[in-house]
Amino acid sequence: MSVFLPTRENLERVAHEIAQGELAVLPTETVYGLAADALNYAAVAKIFELKGRPADNPLIVHVSSVEQIEDFADSVPDVVRSLAAAFMPGPLTVVLPKRSSVLDIVTGGLDTVAIRIPDHPACLAVIELSERALAMPSANPFMGLSPTKIDMLDRSIADSVCSIIDGGACTVGIESTVLDLTGEPTILRLGSVTREEIERVLSHKIGEGGTAHKAPGMYRRHYAPRTKCLATTAIDPATAGLVFDEPTNANQIRMSSDPKVYAQQLYASLADLDSQGHDEIFVVLPPLTAPWMAIWDRISKATATA
Ligand code: TXA
Ligand code: MG
Repeated sequence: MSVFLPTRENLERVAHEIAQGELAVLPTETVYGLAADALNYAAVAKIFELKGRPADNPLIVHVSSVEQIEDFADSVPDVVRSLAAAFMPGPLTVVLPKRSSVLDIVTGGLDTVAIRIPDHPACLAVIELSERALAMPSANPFMGLSPTKIDMLDRSIADSVCSIIDGGACTVGIESTVLDLTGEPTILRLGSVTREEIERVLSHKIGEGGTAHKAPGMYRRHYAPRTKCLATTAIDPATAGLVFDEPTNANQIRMSSDPKVYAQQLYASLADLDSQGHDEIFVVLPPLTAPWMAIWDRISKATATA
């Protein structure tokens, strides 16, 4: 496992490796990603192999500027510019009609492409220094918890990449919001950019939940620890879990009542409990209000049975 700090020298070396077709684990503001040159078929194929990810589950292309979106999207509607002004760089992914040059392996054969500008200086530096765009899913094995710090990385993924850049703990902590702009704007995946924030920029209401066709790779169970996870409104004082009140045993983790801080802590806290060998992990449900919707989504995916 080759872990490096994001010094200029290290970022230049990783950028060179990416341009040569190697893979790297890079920090973003949301979660750590498993990155490859988006235009290199063999490198992208290795992403699918390392993650054990089905071929019909498309990848997000990460770019460093709004102009670079045009290299991948066939048409960039004006609304992207308004959204970019508000949220880019940041945790918003937009789905647009793809250019014919975009590899089918990246889009899972769809005629659309998902694109985002990550808000992390190390990741942006690798994109710029490599003069590439990065195909980059979360750096976890298929269905697992996305890593939000280096020590959560899966060993075999960590050992298979050329370099890992340690950018510390991810500030957002859950994956980006995925917004389909190929028709009426539709949220395909909830994330830290909320529906209300997007509606304010678009000045109208938007839909949620794509069809299976529009949102491949959205599974009922996902983002889950290996240990069985259960959602609860009242936790048994003796069990392990994520709580809001004072923990009643050493296997309970007290979570923030601020949804932004909760999101930062969620995957690392689940991973901590997961490593302790409990039979079950209970998650006390947060309030059912707008700022918590993405967290509700991740909790429901961690606690789904199939
Ligand atoms: O925050 C993030 O988005 C992280 C960091 C690393 O950038 N990346 C991430 O990628 O979560 P991944 O591959 O774990 O999830 C991307 C999801 C896919 O599951 C898929 O459902 C959706 O984005 N997606 C990608 N391309 C799409 C497309 N053309 N149409 C619809 N959905 C798409
Ligand atoms: Mg993922």
